[in-house]
Amino acid sequence: MELSRRTFSALAGTAALGLALTGSGGVPSRAHGARTAPTGPPPAPPSADGARHVVDFDRYSLLVDGRRLALWSGEMHPFRLPSPSLWRDVLQKMRAHGFNAVSVHVSWNYHSPAPGRYDFSGVRDLDLFLRTAAETGLYVVLRPGPYINGEVDGGGFPGWLTATRGHARTADPTYLRYVDEWLTAVDEIAVRHQFTRGTGTVLLYQIENEYAAYVDEPTGREYMAHLYGKVRADGIDVPLFHNDKGRNGYWVPGSFSTGGGKGRWLYGFDGYPSPDEVPPDWGYFGPGGPRGGASASPRTPGFMPEFGGGWFDAWGGATFDGKGYAQARRTRDAAYERRFCLTNLANGITLHNTYMTFGGTSWGWLPAPAVYTSYDYGAAIDEARNATPKLAPMHQIGQMLRYVPDLAKLDRAKGVRVSDEGLKVYHLTNPDTGSHVYVVRNDSDGEVTTTLPGTGIDVPVTVPPRDATLMTTDLELGHRKLAYSTVQPMVSMPVGRQDIAVFTGRRGEMARVVLDCPGEPHATRLDAEPAWVYEDGLLRVNAPLGAGGLSRVLVESPDVDTPMLLLFTDDAGALRMWPYETPSGPLLVYGPALLRSATLSGATVHLAGDTIGETGLEVWAPRGITHVTWNGRPVRTRLTRAGSLVIVGVLPGVPRPALPALDGWRRRTENPESAPDFDDSDWTVADRTTSFSTTRVPDGQPVLFADDYGFHYGDVWYRGRLTDARDMESVSLAYSTGTQGLLMAWLDGRPLGTHRMPVPDKDSVGQGTWTATAAFAVPERLRERDTHVLSVLVRRMQHDQDGGARDTHKAARGLTEATFKGASAKVSWRLQGAGAPDPVRGPLNNGGLYGEREGWHLPDHDDDGWDAVEFPRAGRRQGVAWYRTAFRLGVDPGVDASVGLTLDDDPDRAYRVQIFLNGWNMGQYINDVGPQHTFVLPNGILRTRGRNTLALAVLSDGSTPSGPRDVRLTLLGAAAGGVPVEPVDD
Ligand code: GAL
Repeated sequence: MELSRRTFSALAGTAALGLALTGSGGVPSRAHGARTAPTGPPPAPPSADGARHVVDFDRYSLLVDGRRLALWSGEMHPFRLPSPSLWRDVLQKMRAHGFNAVSVHVSWNYHSPAPGRYDFSGVRDLDLFLRTAAETGLYVVLRPGPYINGEVDGGGFPGWLTATRGHARTADPTYLRYVDEWLTAVDEIAVRHQFTRGTGTVLLYQIENEYAAYVDEPTGREYMAHLYGKVRADGIDVPLFHNDKGRNGYWVPGSFSTGGGKGRWLYGFDGYPSPDEVPPDWGYFGPGGPRGGASASPRTPGFMPEFGGGWFDAWGGATFDGKGYAQARRTRDAAYERRFCLTNLANGITLHNTYMTFGGTSWGWLPAPAVYTSYDYGAAIDEARNATPKLAPMHQIGQMLRYVPDLAKLDRAKGVRVSDEGLKVYHLTNPDTGSHVYVVRNDSDGEVTTTLPGTGIDVPVTVPPRDATLMTTDLELGHRKLAYSTVQPMVSMPVGRQDIAVFTGRRGEMARVVLDCPGEPHATRLDAEPAWVYEDGLLRVNAPLGAGGLSRVLVESPDVDTPMLLLFTDDAGALRMWPYETPSGPLLVYGPALLRSATLSGATVHLAGDTIGETGLEVWAPRGITHVTWNGRPVRTRLTRAGSLVIVGVLPGVPRPALPALDGWRRRTENPESAPDFDDSDWTVADRTTSFSTTRVPDGQPVLFADDYGFHYGDVWYRGRLTDARDMESVSLAYSTGTQGLLMAWLDGRPLGTHRMPVPDKDSVGQGTWTATAAFAVPERLRERDTHVLSVLVRRMQHDQDGGARDTHKAARGLTEATFKGASAKVSWRLQGAGAPDPVRGPLNNGGLYGEREGWHLPDHDDDGWDAVEFPRAGRRQGVAWYRTAFRLGVDPGVDASVGLTLDDDPDRAYRVQIFLNGWNMGQYINDVGPQHTFVLPNGILRTRGRNTLALAVLSDGSTPSGPRDVRLTLLGAAAGGVPVEPVDD
């Protein structure tokens, strides 16, 4: 349908027209600005392009080669996805969904099994990660600590550091010597990937993490100055920064010496607001003053190195009422991210990182005591690598920041008065272009419709409850000017012969876009819904936003050569809308679940991406492109009046991959260490008398702390030989673990019992040192013996994080003291933990269970002699039993299947399971604690086309019957497409 000259859409009586007419009354007269030159396509995504680049900033934003860059970054941790091929998958998803940067903690402990040893091979290949990020077109924000927190063991400090002299996170020279070792190793790689050199895309580099302990003391300042100097000396020349734990003004420029050298320093601060609070103003609209957030550092741009994209959950599900990360995603949903992120933007925060955007898995012994294996975080991309609906606001904002450059330079502007309760309006303006931005936030529980007097937006606007929206006025849009829009602009770019602008809002909303059109335009409705009216030099377009659909309106004007295509869609539709930059100019794809890449050759555009369900495909391509392929196959298209190529038919969805049942289990029990005659002659003698631990060494006893003997992760065994023990009535064993630790004891081969570390109350989670004393009565019939062998297994969980710089990672792990009642028994101890670190899987894969020491978890272990068993099982025995089976998968190579292992049983049964897939420790299940039942098995470690070995190490208290009952594979996601996956070594 085509219309011109004061013609109204023929949709008389539709909602669209009704609202258009409402809006046409009382239009304030608007000076039609002269047409300005189009802003042109955005710069090409960053790459290792061989050119030198200048990374600088002013108070508004970063300036890369003099051009403003709003940094829209997402956090992921390579160490939480132990399959390098999948890094590309997650990075491509982030890039496609609007992020232009990835921020990464680099965890010292993951790379360093021992002092002086640094390993960046295999799953630890930082160089490969940085290359992949550059190939994906993402900048990198590198955060190697040395302390990272991050809910990892010791906050990233290596286990061996717990047994060294030196006060960590201060200027203590011993500590700094180790720190320098680490930074040398990591910087050697980072240096080669700096964007300044054109050899990579590392754009910013963080030192330390939320360092608040010694801010006002010389040791703190010296420490920061040392880190700064070291990193610069290593050749890092991109801007450095630190993330202030809150809006404290800590470590603003000038607060420590940077040695007068060149190089720049940014101030940043982190924020994790609760979903219940009104989004705080951390910049322009805050209370101001030196401690007012972004304004604490007036010469540097507003920077949030971490903004909460979810939150972590504790053992037992303490944080989310036992409902796990699904609940995190419900409470911090799309509307949460939208209203907080838009508030941040309104406050001048132009460097923004969402922690986490992909959380991943704290596999092996990585998790800090505060968390369990899954680090899904309720993030926008879930642990199984699926896009979730909360990506919508991130996608829309990310694309907007890329395609609407005005947003990188905003000043606070005149207040807008609204009387509606719970409604807040932020008004900003770009001083160079004169465009205006209004963030309208509704903090109430009901939808609000209001007017915005004095803004030029002359229609009522509606904001859903506890949500926000961004509106613009006087914005250049290709060759035209937007008078105003009540919906967020997402994309504005020239494609082929036309300008395209995409606007997004909530489903069911009426989008209103008004264009300045001095000459009367000719508009063409390409879909049924939109309507418009032209009067007084304004083209007023109204489009109701349907469910995931797209509305298209083509605008042609006598005085502008380039036609403009307006596209309208809702959140679901925005998540299927993919702008992409090619060397011949931008293109836009609509339809599939993901667009990974688009390459042009001759007249063909080759698209690669994912589909989940059947979908249409529409492509706006640069001039001269007439043919399309999808994942290597030509697709038949026709040309539309919207200037696009549309598929004839559909792209197929994904067939649901079948997963086998797990059977053929074999079982073998272990803990021979509990037998009195077990040969422990090659175990380590506990003969130390002093320790650098923060735990006191009891008078007259040897040090029993596992770390002092080089056993830093997982289970540790002790065997004590007792003499002079006749009439011994009881044994008291003091021990120290992370939360959910436990201790099992045997005397002369007989079980004494199991003691579980009491769980601290909610408020002290993350702060406790978790010490307890297990007291066991000696069975009557053993009391007449003069000598005994006491065997003790401690599941010691992990080292504390050291958030307060109090060396809390040095709290002992393992036994701390043994006392005997009724006899003056003497004891000599030997202990045993994990053997040499697995050269492929790294130091955090294994602890010291007998089966681990003997390689029972490894795929090639011969289990022929083991007993065949079936699940469910219900045996009662204190100790360790292993179960192994193998299974084959035959997933179609064109399908990305994400698979998990699910365990279920009667929640009263006191046992726990370490899950080994092809030798890789994929996590710990605690049946009577939870909340995690499904463990993600990353492809690469999981052979999706081939044989896999599963080994379960089951530790049972003996106080109840023990499973496993139900162990099965679960499909967590499937898409046609994916990335090629290299097998991870095993
Ligand atoms: C921050 C810290 C991160 C992470 C986060 C909570 O304080 O910098 O590393 O621990 O909190 O998930």
